[in-house]
Amino acid sequence: MELFEQHSNRFDEFSLQAAGWTLDYSKNRLDHGSLEALLALADQTGIEELREALFSGAPVNNTEQRPALHTALRSDSTEPLHVDGEDIRPQIQSAQTRIREICDQVHGRQWLGYSGKPITDVINIGIGGSFLGPRVVIQSLDPYKQDNIKIHFIANIDPGDLLVTLNKLNPETSLFIVASKSFGTQETTCNALQCREWIIAKGTPETSLSKHFLAITANIPKAVEFGINPENILPMWDWVGGRYSLWSAIGLPIALGIGFDNFEQLLAGAREMDQHFQQAPLESNMPVIMGLLGVWYQNFWDARSHGLLCYSYYLRSFVDHIQQLDMESNGKSITRLGTSLDYRSGSVIWGGEGCNGQHAYHQLLHQGNQHTPVDFIVALLSPHSELQEQHRILVANAFSQSQALMSGKSSDLICAELAAQGLEPTQIEALLPHKIIPGNRPNNTLLTRTLDPHSLGSLLALYEHKVFVQSVVWGINPFDQWGVELGKQLSDTLGDRLQDPEAPADQDSSTNGLIRLYHSTLDS
Ligand code: F6P
Repeated sequence: MELFEQHSNRFDEFSLQAAGWTLDYSKNRLDHGSLEALLALADQTGIEELREALFSGAPVNNTEQRPALHTALRSDSTEPLHVDGEDIRPQIQSAQTRIREICDQVHGRQWLGYSGKPITDVINIGIGGSFLGPRVVIQSLDPYKQDNIKIHFIANIDPGDLLVTLNKLNPETSLFIVASKSFGTQETTCNALQCREWIIAKGTPETSLSKHFLAITANIPKAVEFGINPENILPMWDWVGGRYSLWSAIGLPIALGIGFDNFEQLLAGAREMDQHFQQAPLESNMPVIMGLLGVWYQNFWDARSHGLLCYSYYLRSFVDHIQQLDMESNGKSITRLGTSLDYRSGSVIWGGEGCNGQHAYHQLLHQGNQHTPVDFIVALLSPHSELQEQHRILVANAFSQSQALMSGKSSDLICAELAAQGLEPTQIEALLPHKIIPGNRPNNTLLTRTLDPHSLGSLLALYEHKVFVQSVVWGINPFDQWGVELGKQLSDTLGDRLQDPEAPADQDSSTNGLIRLYHSTLDS
């Protein structure tokens, strides 16, 4: 609050624009001195060199010796870009052409099921980056959806996720997309097998399965082994990480859901943010400023998490996607060189839809005894112009929550209010400590005119690059995910123990106890 009193034009000094977004970062515990120190830290840790390495296809994923070229997927450059001696531009172009062809056939009602009826429902079977990115885009751009096509997602191995969707479908007009970079993810392969059995049980001749199944994968042999027609397999590449892959053929359900032209607009928005990230000076570079603010709170103010408050119903699953993007990238404790970090790295990402959060967790934000930095994400105009007046109230709530976090409410003001309500001094004294709102709680506001394919694309790219900036400062590799392997291995073993009641109790006491309970429940 004091910083605002010292600088009447603080908003102008601590806000910037890029790719259709305005970042107001004036409500932070930040003055020019601390900002300069953070910028110096970014410079010292080599942000410009590593940013160049990222875009140029150097093996920035050093533990897998791979590039991370999600930016190439949305580039319009015709300059050759080599990976392992091969120019990847033609591969990217050909995958996009294939996406367009499939969209033309499905939207033109020329892709027919086994009984000769056009496709009406597309079902994406995938998890993690093969699910969260496409889902957030489909949900966020619902106002742009194609009239005659519904997009569904099956991700979890919980039969409920599978059956809730299958029960909505007509097998004659359903097109399944098996989306899996490895084609080895247990949840996805189990669900894909179930969907194949389902559609055959519903009368689809096995010889017609190619009319109802596509695959998107880097593991073509396994997709062919599953029974996917090679012509119906779209490529994924090792130089694109799963959580960065919605711009690739993993985005096929997006293009089918909102149309190829809107998918291209999504790519264009991300491209504009890429260009900003590459060209803007560090002090006016949106991903750099957002990344450094995260470092500031994580490493200098003992913050433990970072909240995303999305004041848009359509952005209701944005947090889910950013959780994987951020936490699977920066949830590491080892540097790129293999040494242990002696400082904190990736933060816990949480959040949700505003105004709903105001009636759920904002109490802690306002009066908790730990400060939790948050981003308010706001579209100024509703896609429903006829209800812009109601949307104005949504925007007012976002702005007021942001102001309340910064300004708080002083004891003098509270005492005056309670006295005006007729409370006795002793009552006021007793109630006062419970009503004080401390304020000085850091928060950013990201504003755009309206949530459309272009602004969504640039928003998603903004957070991708924010994560990258933080990985550079922390000295970690954001593009591998070795930590998820153990759980997968153990689930195979414990799956066997749960399957066989006579299996040896060869696990730890807790796990043996849990397995015993499973068997006794199954038998009861
Ligand atoms: O969570 C681990 C992970 O490998 C993610 O990185 C990935 O997005 C997800 O599983 C799905 O992997 P795949 O696309 O290979 O099925």
